[in-house]
Amino acid sequence: MRYRLVVSIVSSVILLLAGAGFVTWYFVHRGFSTRNQPGKIEAMLATTLRRAAIPSHERELKMPVKGTPDVLREGMAHWADHCASCHGNNGGGETMYGKTMYPRPPDMRLASTQELSDGELYYTIKNGVRLSGMPAFGEPGDDDIDSWKLVAFIRHLPKLTEQEELQMEQLNPKTPEEFQEEREEHQFLNSDGGSASPKTSTTHHKRNTEIP
Ligand code: HEC
Repeated sequence: MRYRLVVSIVSSVILLLAGAGFVTWYFVHRGFSTRNQPGKIEAMLATTLRRAAIPSHERELKMPVKGTPDVLREGMAHWADHCASCHGNNGGGETMYGKTMYPRPPDMRLASTQELSDGELYYTIKNGVRLSGMPAFGEPGDDDIDSWKLVAFIRHLPKLTEQEELQMEQLNPKTPEEFQEEREEHQFLNSDGGSASPKTSTTHHKRNTEIP
């Protein structure tokens, strides 16, 4: 009896050590690069856990705004400014950052995102996703109308037109070098007989949330 107990304790310890050894070997061998992408099992586990972690009353929340042109315009400007660096203006995720994140931002025009409930999208925007690059944008507890406008815009992504994408490019954050380049371009145009009107030269420099 005693002998059996010792054997089972020793074999459990050996199994545990072998398991720990395998996990260590796997990560060291595989590396921690973000270039690889999660395998199917890891992705399924992470997505299931992520969805399970959203409280049911949050998941069932309904959008308190309608996707009117004004709401979409505001959501689009906000997206171009805060989200497009990872998700792209069109939501496809093919950006400099998005292409090498682990996990990558999904193509949000596809069913896997569009089938999420309004509440799930809203919760994700407000709270972010742990162990991924997705930051939390809202304050806890607030009924955050700006995040709802983003949800309305996400619903619009599959129908985004080429013209809207072009408008968004004007709203994407610019580096100091890009600002300088534009400033020089306008100075050049203005000194050259003023082919650009003073109106265009001023509106172009500040981040413009008014889409014409
Ligand atoms: C720094 C990069 C980054 C920025 C900026 C960012 N996201 Fe994300 N986002 C991600 C990543 C990465 C994921 C994928 C997370 C995952 O796989 O669970 C993600 C996932 C999401 C999802 C879940 C989509 C799905 O199908 O599961 C939503 C909704 C979302 N982001 C909205 C936004 C909005 C709105 C903004 C701007 C206010 C934003 N994100 C800004 C990186 C970013």
